[in-house]
Amino acid sequence: MPHFLSLADISAADLRSILDQAHAMKAARTGLPKGATDPGLNGEGPSLNGHTLAMIFEKSSTRTRFSFDMGMRQLGGTSITATSNDMQLGRGESVADTARVLSRFVDAVMIRSNAHRTITDFAENSDVPVINGLSDFNHPCQILADLMTIEERGTKLNGAVLSWIGDGNNVLASFVNAAPAFGYELRISSPDSYSLDPAIIQAAQDRQGKIVTDLSPQDAASGADALITDCWVSMGDTDKAERLKALTPYQIDASILGKAKQGAAFLHCLPAYRGQEMTAEVLEGEQSVVWDEAENRLHAQKAIVRWCLGV
Ligand code: CP
Ligand code: NVA
Repeated sequence: MPHFLSLADISAADLRSILDQAHAMKAARTGLPKGATDPGLNGEGPSLNGHTLAMIFEKSSTRTRFSFDMGMRQLGGTSITATSNDMQLGRGESVADTARVLSRFVDAVMIRSNAHRTITDFAENSDVPVINGLSDFNHPCQILADLMTIEERGTKLNGAVLSWIGDGNNVLASFVNAAPAFGYELRISSPDSYSLDPAIIQAAQDRQGKIVTDLSPQDAASGADALITDCWVSMGDTDKAERLKALTPYQIDASILGKAKQGAAFLHCLPAYRGQEMTAEVLEGEQSVVWDEAENRLHAQKAIVRWCLGV
């Protein structure tokens, strides 16, 4: 069953083909109204007629929710969205039983969960593909959209230097997971108290992923093709005051961005908190690609759903 749970589980060839398809599908619908169905790459029309994606959210979402919904419409399918509290899940029905039942109704399920274990439990009990729409461990859909955005800037991923400056969180974990497949060098600058689990980094290094850790923000940024960060307080984090204090030296400002390669891209998965992880100047500046990055969630996820469904 082709579940989309972690970029570490999917072959480099499949990840490359998902990204290629995302680029091609985006180009093929240039100029169409956003709700129009896809023309297809050869005029064959949308590929997921009659297919339905269920989406379950245990926590908030703007981009993931709207991009998957619009993506399914463009593919000729439809989606059903519920929060776990709308469902019997919120009253104690098991994840396994929910998976078995939804498998009888829909063609694929996307879940955004607090604990990653919820998504893997669901997948183990599902007869249809399961897509990870963010967990406390990772955010694989986001990183494919990010890599698509970097490629759109003309940067070849193999050999590129991508620098993460900030919290060692779930979004960073997916950049680490994907490093072996795409061949970029990932530089990480995070405070010791909020650094990524070394086991995740070691697993990527064991697969020849080029990951460099323990860098200062300046050293991480130096000569980089892209600077990437995320909010300092993720959904579910309860230690806001400690985080703001520890992460303040890791703010991306014009001086840090100035150390990167000329024209380097600034990425952020959003939502962003101006004055914390980056200055408003950087977020709004001409090197910021955050709005393209948000749009590319749509295109990348359409390719992900098609990969899961084999169409
Ligand atoms: N970047 C991202 O996943 O955004 P949402 O939380 O709004 O879905
Ligand atoms: N790291 C953030 C990403 C939000 C899209 C969080 O988990 O809240």
